[in-house]
Amino acid sequence: MKSDFVSNVSHELRTPLASIRVFGEFLRLGRVESEEKVREYGAFIETESRRLTGLVNNILDFSRIESGRKTYKFRKTDLNEILEKTLQTFDIRLRQSGFAIRRKEIERFPPIKIDGDAIAQAVSNLVDNAVKYSGGSKEISVSLARDNGWAVISVEDQGIGISKEDQKKIFERFHRVSTGLVHEVRGSGLGLSIVNHIVHAHQGNVQVSSEPGSGSTFSIRLPLDLEISNA
Ligand SMILES: Nc1ncnc2c1ncn2[C@@H]1O[C@H](COP(=O)(O)OP(=O)(O)O)[C@@H](O)[C@H]1O
Ligand SMILES: [Mg+2]
Repeated sequence: MKSDFVSNVSHELRTPLASIRVFGEFLRLGRVESEEKVREYGAFIETESRRLTGLVNNILDFSRIESGRKTYKFRKTDLNEILEKTLQTFDIRLRQSGFAIRRKEIERFPPIKIDGDAIAQAVSNLVDNAVKYSGGSKEISVSLARDNGWAVISVEDQGIGISKEDQKKIFERFHRVSTGLVHEVRGSGLGLSIVNHIVHAHQGNVQVSSEPGSGSTFSIRLPLDLEISNA
């Protein structure tokens, strides 16, 4: 399991690194004709770097979680802003591949007590999965809604879906569904275990609803009246 993990993680890191190198080379060689292209390549390098940071943060967080050192800073935070900023980094990255992230039902929330960086990372992990496991479909919808005392962030894809059996295991660290597409898609099986940890630290929960072949919806549910006394 350990050597699989190291090999998976390394491969996952190499993809954004390769893009950054290629776009950097284009720019250095001065082969980019228009101002617009220069900006586009710059944006690409920026978002791929962000993605790399996200992957490294996952690994660091995983190690902190394992050793019980992961801490959270809960502060009154604008959840709408956190969500929109997170989605925007995907917008840029996905533009070229024809994906669209649709914002459906975005309700406005007053500031709520969360660890904004952690929630951004959790949402990123869900959107990253929605993209990776989309199969041929290119549609992802995100919503933010109120359900009684909860803020609910949902990420919905029309992708390959997950069987009932696997739904029970995917939140375990390293667990990856061993059939079909997954072998062609890079991943180290940390994402959902981190999402789970982050959301539980907020006294919330993560729900999944999915059918093989017709997509998945992951929902992060955060209590609006979090009683944690720090920061
Ligand atoms: N949106 C999704 N659609 C289909 N399968 C998914 C989705 N999200 C997660 N999975 C399954 O759950 C597994 C665990 O996800 P995750 O912890 O993020 O690890 P990774 O993406 O690195 O494989 C994935 O390998 C995949 O098999
Ligand atoms: Mg993942």
